[in-house]
Amino acid sequence: MNIAIDGPAGAGKSTIARLAAQRLGFLYVDTGAMYRAIALYLLDAKTNIEDKDRLKSALDHIRINIAYEKDVQHVFLNLQDVSAEIRSEKVGNMASRTAALPEVRAKLLDLQRDIATKNDVLMDGRDIGTNILPNAELKIYLTASVEVRAERRFKELKQMGGNPKLDVIKEDIEKRDFQDMNRKIAPLRQAEDAVLVDSSNMTIEEVVSEIVRLAKERMASGE
Ligand code: CDP
Repeated sequence: MNIAIDGPAGAGKSTIARLAAQRLGFLYVDTGAMYRAIALYLLDAKTNIEDKDRLKSALDHIRINIAYEKDVQHVFLNLQDVSAEIRSEKVGNMASRTAALPEVRAKLLDLQRDIATKNDVLMDGRDIGTNILPNAELKIYLTASVEVRAERRFKELKQMGGNPKLDVIKEDIEKRDFQDMNRKIAPLRQAEDAVLVDSSNMTIEEVVSEIVRLAKERMASGE
């Protein structure tokens, strides 16, 4: 069985998806981490992404793998664990820019589908229900107001020891939403058959329970 969770930046997808996957005994696949790892490489290599030849050659040098340690996904960029490094806003913003490039998306498509074919997965991202796993048994579109999402991201970055600024984070989120929703290829949108969950006024536990409930309902009806 496959579950797809899509939604905008800071909607709480990763926390919620990880917990729901744990409860269901599914593999949690964070596809954003893969886009972030590619972005990290392109930033470090100072690749001019407008130059298609350079971009192609950079992508040829990138190998992305994921592995699990105690149920936690680690992402590897050319065999190096970059799970911590990819969490900065700088990498997140670059990921949003580079995720609009068809070459980048093509590179991750097979990897993501392959994992979903081999496992019961709960996969989160922007185009999972619409593009990567159109036949997923359950699709969730998880969102929340921009204010709530900015606040959550602010707390998260602070906890990680940073010195974030709320207004800058809000602007980043708005910009990222716009980029993700308006790109030509695989834009972020709610799949027609996705269940809309607005988490603005819900606790993490409430959202997780709702997803687990929906998943169990689908599992029962599939038997
Ligand atoms: O954690 P956050 O929700 O901010 O972002 P993320 O899930 O780590 O993804 C980072 C960026 O990668 C997003 O802004 C998207 O542009 C891109 N992405 C995508 O295009 N398709 C996916 N399936 C996952 C992420």
